Amino acid sequence: MKIIAPVKSVLITCFTAFLAFPLHAQSPKLIKVKLDQSIAKVQPNMWGVFFEDINFGADGGIYAELIKNRSFEFAKPLMGWSISRNRPQEGEILVVNRKQEQAANPRYLQIKKQTDDFELVNEGFKGIGVKKGMRYDFSVMYRQSQPGVKMVLLLKDPDKKVIGQGSFVPDEVGNDWKKQSVSFLATETNPKAKFSIVFQGKGNIDLDMISLFPGDTWKNRKQGLRADMVQLLADMKPGFVRFPGGCIVEGTDLANRYQWKNTIGPIEDRKMIVNRWNNEFAHRPAPDYYQTFGLGFFEYFQLAEDIGSDALPILNCGMACQFNTGEVVSLDEIGPYVQDALDLIEFANGDITTTWGKKRAELGHPKPFNLKMMGVGNENWGPQYLERLAIFTKAIKAKYPDFKLINSSGTDPEGDRFSLLNTSLRENKADFIDEHYYRPADWFLKNAGRYDTYPRNETKVFVGEYAVHADKNVIGSNRNNWQSALASASLMTGLERNADVVQMASYAPLFAHIDGWQWAPDMIWVDNLQSYGTPDYYVQKLFSTNKGTDVVSITLDNKNIIGQNELYASAVLDKGKKELIIKISNNADRPQSIDFDLDGKTKLKNKGTVDELASADLNQLNSFTNPGAVSPKTTVIQITGKKLSTTLKPYSFNVFKIPFN
Ligand code: AHR
Repeated sequence: MKIIAPVKSVLITCFTAFLAFPLHAQSPKLIKVKLDQSIAKVQPNMWGVFFEDINFGADGGIYAELIKNRSFEFAKPLMGWSISRNRPQEGEILVVNRKQEQAANPRYLQIKKQTDDFELVNEGFKGIGVKKGMRYDFSVMYRQSQPGVKMVLLLKDPDKKVIGQGSFVPDEVGNDWKKQSVSFLATETNPKAKFSIVFQGKGNIDLDMISLFPGDTWKNRKQGLRADMVQLLADMKPGFVRFPGGCIVEGTDLANRYQWKNTIGPIEDRKMIVNRWNNEFAHRPAPDYYQTFGLGFFEYFQLAEDIGSDALPILNCGMACQFNTGEVVSLDEIGPYVQDALDLIEFANGDITTTWGKKRAELGHPKPFNLKMMGVGNENWGPQYLERLAIFTKAIKAKYPDFKLINSSGTDPEGDRFSLLNTSLRENKADFIDEHYYRPADWFLKNAGRYDTYPRNETKVFVGEYAVHADKNVIGSNRNNWQSALASASLMTGLERNADVVQMASYAPLFAHIDGWQWAPDMIWVDNLQSYGTPDYYVQKLFSTNKGTDVVSITLDNKNIIGQNELYASAVLDKGKKELIIKISNNADRPQSIDFDLDGKTKLKNKGTVDELASADLNQLNSFTNPGAVSPKTTVIQITGKKLSTTLKPYSFNVFKIPFN
């Protein structure tokens, strides 16, 4: 149908547009791209992800367990549990501690049921997300001297309506613990359900590891990961997965540091600890935040492998978080910490005849994980860090000379702590220095040229954590808006241009639960059923899926494009896909006309595409109701000879892809 607009309204529209953008659209900037000269190689694992169990990212997040405090090991053993209906009599339910017998998981629930039926209710992490038609897998460890107690399993919505039901009859008798499972289907969808066990009959039974998982885990692995969250990562094709943090590597004290050996093997033997984000921020308390390590180091390696990423573990260097206790291990007693690092390499790569390679094989992965690098320390600093790092480095390099080590440069990308480490680590020819920055948008824009003048030598930079914090608070309540993503994209053009220096980068943090976050902004937000990528997610994904192989020069008036006319740009060739890829952000509140002069012998095709991320509103967010508010729109572009003429929208980030022969 042809619609003819009234002439007057067309005139008014044109006039208004002219007033809004009077001059700029008419004078194209000439941007020169030199196609034939590779100025740096882009590492295949350049753009990765940072995973930490913060914001209920693992427990209560990607680790799909739905029962909170399944083994009664929280400081308050019945936290997350309640008893409703016909209160049991004194002594009918007890939490028993058998520390001698099972040091890693000492507590269990003892039921001595002689009276009326009663009901034990678990509230889930922030409720339980239940999907209509979905299978739910219940499992439990138990022992009973004689049969008698039957359990009815119920999923209930907040109005206590039953939306899923199964039953469990423990069928073995004896003094040993047994594991048994049963599955049932849900009849309705609800994001805030609860799980009940109604105890019927009479008898005695001991219970532990009361567990419920949805049937649709990633790759349908039993007791595995939330598929929607992994899929968002897989879609990014990240070059590496950094894990397990972050500050949880350090712990508030050394006793609560992350110890990978406690995170492998049967889940009932993984000794859980309090999550260091449990009480870190008074304004975001999370008293029910613990690390069960159901997502442990084997699963991390497996996840990285599943999504085609390199694994990048970060290990404790013998120092607890310096903002908390600052506890350090005595140098005389650092041996076990170093041994953990050596053993991890063997666990990942060792032949199955080695002690730790054998363990990996027993867990179901005889093939090595091909681990190539590891971080020693997270955000540690000072001479104490340097002396501990030296011991690790000597031991690891002696056994694995080609293994790459990532060294910390502390918490900030400038200042005395940074300078001390940056200077010393470079003198010591560090493989990688890990830089972290959580800064406002204008810092990101000002630092788009940061690496243009960095030394070109053997020490490379890993930008291991970064995010724009739109307000000045480092830990704000702000979600990722378009302003933060656009500033990230602008800085990232500077990382890409300097891919010979900055060889890896990861945005942080990755996940946040809408009802359980401690730190914001974050790249991906989830509730109990859904997840969405923020504008930053799309920026990261555009870089990662268009990383190219070779950096080429892109200039405006013969200079790197680091803010002239509020433009930021980088360009790469992908020699495998045979594509020229130009990334350019327009931080101006007006459209800008650009003529790209695509100089060189490389024969470009005359059609390409542009993926455009744009919003006129810098405060624009994505959300559960509008997950694609800021998301890429792809259109076809025309190249005439060696020229591409285009107009960049105000506040836009654009990825032009032009195939060549
Ligand atoms: O990403 C959140 C936190 O920021 C990390 O745990 C820590 O390394 C940094 O301070």
